[in-house]
Amino acid sequence: MKLVVCKNYDEMSDKAARIIKAGMILKNDIVLGLATGSTPVGVYKKLIEANKEGKISFKNVRTVNLDEYVGISYNHDQSYHKFMDDNLFDYVDIDKKNTHVPDGRATDLNRACKEYDEMIESYGSIDIQVLGIGQNGHIGFNEPQSTFSLGTHIVDLTENTREANKRFFNNIDEVPTKAITMGTKHIMQAKVIVLVANGKNKARA
Ligand code: PGA
Repeated sequence: MKLVVCKNYDEMSDKAARIIKAGMILKNDIVLGLATGSTPVGVYKKLIEANKEGKISFKNVRTVNLDEYVGISYNHDQSYHKFMDDNLFDYVDIDKKNTHVPDGRATDLNRACKEYDEMIESYGSIDIQVLGIGQNGHIGFNEPQSTFSLGTHIVDLTENTREANKRFFNNIDEVPTKAITMGTKHIMQAKVIVLVANGKNKARA
């Protein structure tokens, strides 16, 4: 593990984006694992800039996202499908058929988890996985005590996570109680993981 301490958010975003850009140049059909949350937004902005300048192309890039809330529609402001469109996919030359976000609206959630794992495995493995981290150390919606052998699964959100995310909803009652998340199994199988953490409140995690 290499720890890179940056002087500010912009430098952190730039350094993380450089790793991803290099990966995209070396392998044009790279498999990127992507994360939502406020922290990676700066990384995505740098990737959008580089795409606009013609330095990188997403034409053959495949993406798999970490997680999605259960029970909210794709166009809900807090849906992670919408987050990815608003913060990356709508601004780059990606083919949306090559982008994947877990389906929190599936009627058979266990089947959706199994199909998500099959899709990841059909790609071999993730080349570069972008991660944020929660204040309590959660990764995606994997809480710190989750086992490392789990594939995509349904989680009951902890009160800590729901509290942390309530700023995005009108009130705590609107925050979903369940989510679908990639497990640490496929995250740990990624060839490279770029975890971005910003601010004092993440220092302990
Ligand atoms: P944040 O969320 O980037 O908005 O701090 C990270 C996380 O909770 O995984």
